[in-house]
Amino acid sequence: MELKEIQEGLARILVPKAERIYDSPVFYNPKMSLNRDISVFALKVLKPRTVLDALSATGIRGIRYALETPAEEIWLNDINPHAFRLILKNIELNFGIEGKYIGEKRVRFDGEKPMIANLDDANRLMAEKFRYFDFLDLDPFGSPVEFLDTSLRSVRRNGVLAVTATDTGVLCGAYRQACLRKYLSIPIRGELCHEAGLRILVATIARYAAKYDLGIEVLLAYYRDHYFRVFLRMESGARVADRSLKRLGYLWQDKDGKFEYSEEFLPGKLGAHGPMWLGPLKDDEFVEKMLQEAKDHPLASRKTLPFLELILEELDLPFYYETHAIARRHGIQVGKLSALMERLREEGFKATRTHFSPTAIKTDAPFDVVLEAMKRRN
Ligand SMILES: C[S@@+](CC[C@H](N)C(=O)[O-])C[C@H]1O[C@@H](n2cnc3c(N)ncnc32)[C@H](O)[C@@H]1O
Repeated sequence: MELKEIQEGLARILVPKAERIYDSPVFYNPKMSLNRDISVFALKVLKPRTVLDALSATGIRGIRYALETPAEEIWLNDINPHAFRLILKNIELNFGIEGKYIGEKRVRFDGEKPMIANLDDANRLMAEKFRYFDFLDLDPFGSPVEFLDTSLRSVRRNGVLAVTATDTGVLCGAYRQACLRKYLSIPIRGELCHEAGLRILVATIARYAAKYDLGIEVLLAYYRDHYFRVFLRMESGARVADRSLKRLGYLWQDKDGKFEYSEEFLPGKLGAHGPMWLGPLKDDEFVEKMLQEAKDHPLASRKTLPFLELILEELDLPFYYETHAIARRHGIQVGKLSALMERLREEGFKATRTHFSPTAIKTDAPFDVVLEAMKRRN
């Protein structure tokens, strides 16, 4: 395998030289640096002791966690032997130490912080390390569902589960049957699909967690570059699990684009999309602290800071008004977003941009008020 060295955050990482990322023997996607940056800031705020990078590939995530955050013991795992060997090389490169084999498929590095590289099915490792990790990161190809049960057993009570999902086609309704199979949920197509997809993912984790008497607290859930990412604190107790389930519900949208949603266990009327999470998608204090970390971090990618600022400012209400889609449906012109938000604010409503779309707004104004405000521009 031909390798080249790249730098990301404080880490130097050997990655395969490949024309296209999916042809490579070990996966590496430079576009995911924002995902890794945000995860580094999350760990800096959360200060977990034990961390698992369960699907590690080159080791870039776990190595950045070791170099850039207060994490004290870091495990890096992959099922692919090429990935495992590259993880070993990359740890040696960054920490200048050699590891010791403890068993056939496990190497321990006793540097300033213990790091353990493991070659196995993540499900087997997570089953072995029962309630062990304060922070557990799942960054799979496609859907994370096949790892959810074991990860919920392996994360400590009140620990944090971080999950990426890149199967946006499934969660956003392009493959409805696949969404039913994997997430037991009816997705929606059209302009609301990204937020609905994210909320279906969160709802699925909440349902899996509930059977272990775990409730979820959403620290941050976002959509970006065709993937979803969530950071959830797993709160211990039957009552908090019940409380999480109460935040699940359904979304309806009519042909004019007008939407409504309701928290209920079963949908009260036909045409429902869901179940999906209708609770908050962020904890402002957590995002504010991450933003501070981002400001203090000289090597964070330039995109990360404005993205976190946008998320912090965003109104945390279910669903947004996609001005282009509304204009198309109602045969009107699209005006400036800032002017539309100003008009709504003058009428006493809240209105902000949203990270889900550069042409949408979030507001507590009802659909008809937004439509009128858009028409008034014409
Ligand atoms: C998307 S990549 C991970 C990327 C990496 N976290 C990063 O930030 O660059 C997914 C990885 O999961 C590994 N994988 C797939 N199924 C697995 C399983 N059952 N157990 C452990 N690793 C697995 C693949 O070999 C691949 O390296």
